[in-house]
Amino acid sequence: MPALVLLGAQWGDEGKGKATDLLGGSVDYVVRYQGGNNAGHTVVVGDQKYALHLLPSGILSPTCVPVIGNGVVVDPSVLLSELSGLNERGVDTSKLLISGNAHIITPYNVTVDKVTERFLGKRKIGTTGRGIGPTYADKINRVGIRVQDLYDESILTQKVEAALDVKNQVLTKLYNRRAIAVDQVVEELLGYAEQIKPYVADTVLVLNQALEENKVVLFEGGQGTLLDIDHGTYPFVTSSNPTAGGACTGAGVGPTKISRVIGILKAYTTRVGAGPFPTELFDEDGEALRRIGGERGVTTGRDRRCGWFDAVIARYATRVNGLTDFFLTKLDVLTGWEQIPVCVAYEIDGKRVEELPYSQTDFHHAKPVYETLPGWSEDITKAKSFADLPKNAQNYVKALEEMSGAPISAIGVGPGRDETIEINSFL
Ligand code: GDP
Ligand code: IMO
Ligand code: MG
Repeated sequence: MPALVLLGAQWGDEGKGKATDLLGGSVDYVVRYQGGNNAGHTVVVGDQKYALHLLPSGILSPTCVPVIGNGVVVDPSVLLSELSGLNERGVDTSKLLISGNAHIITPYNVTVDKVTERFLGKRKIGTTGRGIGPTYADKINRVGIRVQDLYDESILTQKVEAALDVKNQVLTKLYNRRAIAVDQVVEELLGYAEQIKPYVADTVLVLNQALEENKVVLFEGGQGTLLDIDHGTYPFVTSSNPTAGGACTGAGVGPTKISRVIGILKAYTTRVGAGPFPTELFDEDGEALRRIGGERGVTTGRDRRCGWFDAVIARYATRVNGLTDFFLTKLDVLTGWEQIPVCVAYEIDGKRVEELPYSQTDFHHAKPVYETLPGWSEDITKAKSFADLPKNAQNYVKALEEMSGAPISAIGVGPGRDETIEINSFL
């Protein structure tokens, strides 16, 4: 049962794109199962850099079939521009499959995302403004538009009407905005239909048949564990389930099929948008992590908030995802620090706490308890094996592994495909 899930163990941007691309050449299918173009996955191949938002990172591997599962929300204009951008760079995208059950991010969902954030003022979530939350809300409210609806004009019109009936009331009466015309939305969506049609498929059937034939399927998560709507730092989360269970619902594959769950874990911590972040740094160390790590959002261009590694979060990710392995990324960014603090527990209202508190109030009060590990100054970007790493870098990795509760099976020492130390094979 060669089905693997690869997901973010922190607040996103751990390096999922690179890790997926690395495995892409050895797997038959790469499947996005949740989220949408709020993701920004960077893949560096030789001197070429790609930023993928909606498409699975496996699209860059010629032998791999990229799949957009039913749990993803699809903005058709973004889909088509991402495809044409890749085609212009010589990437063959013809194998792409898109679930007919995936929901469409409509123009009014994007509008609602933006006006809601503005309305919230200083209480805003800091969303990516891509319409993700409102589209999932429509899905749950049963007024969503699905990819398959693009192929029945009458159904599409009825569904857009139903959705806009309520939304236009809210837009005009609460937010003081202009109403959105049903015809205009229907016309725009129908304009995408024919271009998308060749990719639309029964992806649940395709993936289950592939697994029966012992094909290798990799599920690529967007966002990360702490941004999960159920298990993350609610309400400062995204509106889907990046955690491992999301791969089952978001692709239509049973949990018995999944053999391995790989958590992508940055050697320090970052976060974009609002919400609690116990190890966040506001000093020159935070500035240095941002500068050296290139911590700027791929989707929105916002500076990422930076802090030291948080082992409480890593342990939590191991638990809620049933992680079998970690892929530790960006170890090279820590080169040059004499001492590296690592958060091993929290202090909450005077008490030491070893595990992530379920209470939002407690988490907001959590202060990091640090242990300091000795750093290294040698360049590690050329290291090919664990033994090539300086002793203190080895010890840092071993300490993180012990605290986090799952083996570290690969280490990233640079953004390129080959800048990776493989310890245990994933396949
Ligand atoms: P994702 O959203 O999880 O795919 O991650 P992003 O692409 O948003 O951010 C990760 C950034 O780190 C990208 O710029 C990657 O090219 C880069 N990256 C990934 N792995 C490594 C690594 O091991 N070392 C360094 N220096 N950069 C890395
Ligand atoms: P990748 O896949 C980091 C954050 C946003 C905001 C919150 C909700 O590249 O790791 P949304 O637009 O999803 O409703 O915003 O989630 N967020 C991400 N942060 N990496 C991402 O994706 C993110 N996708 C959403 O900043 O705080
Ligand atoms: Mg990203």
